[in-house]
Amino acid sequence: MRQPELDYLRVDRSGPNCSRRQALSRLAIVAAGLLVQPALGRAAHAASAQPAGQPQSMTVFKSPTCGCCTAWIEHVQKAGFKCTVRDFADLTEVKRTFGIPRALESCHTAQVGSYVVEGHVPADLIVKMLREKPVGRGLAVPGMPIGSPGMEGGTPERYQVLFLNKDGTTRVYATR
Ligand code: CU
Ligand code: CU
Repeated sequence: MRQPELDYLRVDRSGPNCSRRQALSRLAIVAAGLLVQPALGRAAHAASAQPAGQPQSMTVFKSPTCGCCTAWIEHVQKAGFKCTVRDFADLTEVKRTFGIPRALESCHTAQVGSYVVEGHVPADLIVKMLREKPVGRGLAVPGMPIGSPGMEGGTPERYQVLFLNKDGTTRVYATR
């Protein structure tokens, strides 16, 4: 009675579209590099750091139609980051691949050095993180607080910038 089960699995496996899977596996390679680097310690950090005086490069994954993402990109560019922008119609899988907990999700996800940056994180805190090199995954501003970089206009809200530890827990990195 095993045959029907196997047939079912085979059909299931050949299911969803391939191009999406290929895009995801490429992303997985990027993310694997991101996650592996901290384990290699400070030597790897030093090797992956940009030469002094060179702009720090950042890759931003965003929806093609998101205006506040573009405003945030302008904010980090003004702070000296050199951005490569990758548009994704559906960012859910990008966030899963980079290990962003659902509760921390915002609109865009960025990769900088060996860290991930989720949402409208102020550029000065990214600079601080890159300088101090804390052990962990990166920074997140969950949701889209009014008054955070790229979310200007209206009455500014107080919001927390969280640091994402390796185990998925967080600590408050700054309050703005
Ligand atoms: Cu946004
Ligand atoms: Cu955004």
